[in-house]
Amino acid sequence: MSERLILTLAILGGTGRVGPGLAYRWSKAGYHVIIGSRTPDKANMVAQEVNERLNRDVVQGMANEEAVEACDIAVLTVPYEAQKATLESLKDHLQGKVLVVTTVPLVPPNVSLVQLPEAGSATQEAQDTLGDGVNVVAAFQNVAEVHLKEDHPIPCDVLVCGNNEDAREQVLRLVAAAKLVGWDAGPLQNVAVVEGLSSILIGINDRYKIKGAGIRITGDPVEDRSSS
Ligand SMILES: NC(=O)c1ccc[n+]([C@@H]2O[C@H](COP(=O)([O-])OP(=O)(O)OC[C@H]3O[C@@H](n4cnc5c(N)ncnc54)[C@H](OP(=O)(O)O)[C@@H]3O)[C@@H](O)[C@H]2O)c1
Repeated sequence: MSERLILTLAILGGTGRVGPGLAYRWSKAGYHVIIGSRTPDKANMVAQEVNERLNRDVVQGMANEEAVEACDIAVLTVPYEAQKATLESLKDHLQGKVLVVTTVPLVPPNVSLVQLPEAGSATQEAQDTLGDGVNVVAAFQNVAEVHLKEDHPIPCDVLVCGNNEDAREQVLRLVAAAKLVGWDAGPLQNVAVVEGLSSILIGINDRYKIKGAGIRITGDPVEDRSSS
């Protein structure tokens, strides 16, 4: 990937709950953001809404395929049920890129029960679908969309897992740009815990009547990484 000053990020399925919040935060941080969708009109409409919030005309909408072609780093924000088919359709376009996967493999009706797929995690399934030509990195699984779409500091850290260290570094920079604290959580095998944590957080939300419970890593001598 070229080290240009402004990187282009494509948020695939960026028209839902998670995508617009990330688009807003990354645009504010100076990235060029494309909202991807199966339907270009829908992508344009959501891009327009984010632009209105930003008071600038910077976010673009495109079909998912075009968005991948135009980006440096892609971010997948589709539901688990849609992940495999979406990635199969984009596999050729994604080769050579970093793909950030946000997927939590929830199994309705009991979404507060940890039920991971046979491959170990949804993110591992994504890597298996795409092959070694794509650097798949998991991030944002534990951050509730209610926080992402607001402008406030988010009371949840982000665990970043992937098999390529350089790709994890790139994604940690994106996490910081979104004004979140990220931690290198090691290889893809570890993402099972991260994805499973999301179900635990959903259960805690329900039992304690919390809107968007999160996690935080403690014990670090750098007390406030969000402002460092
Ligand atoms: N919601 C949260 O708080 C949260 C938190 C952390 C992680 N996550 C994970 O982040 C991902 C996105 O979550 P979300 O809540 O933003 O999802 P969502 O709003 O339900 O869906 C996001 C987008 O995915 C596309 N999509 C939906 N069904 C599809 C299908 N069958 N095939 C292809 N594309 C489809 C749609 O885009 P188009 O119609 O425009 O193509 C939709 O706008 C999920 O994997 C979720 O597990 C969610």
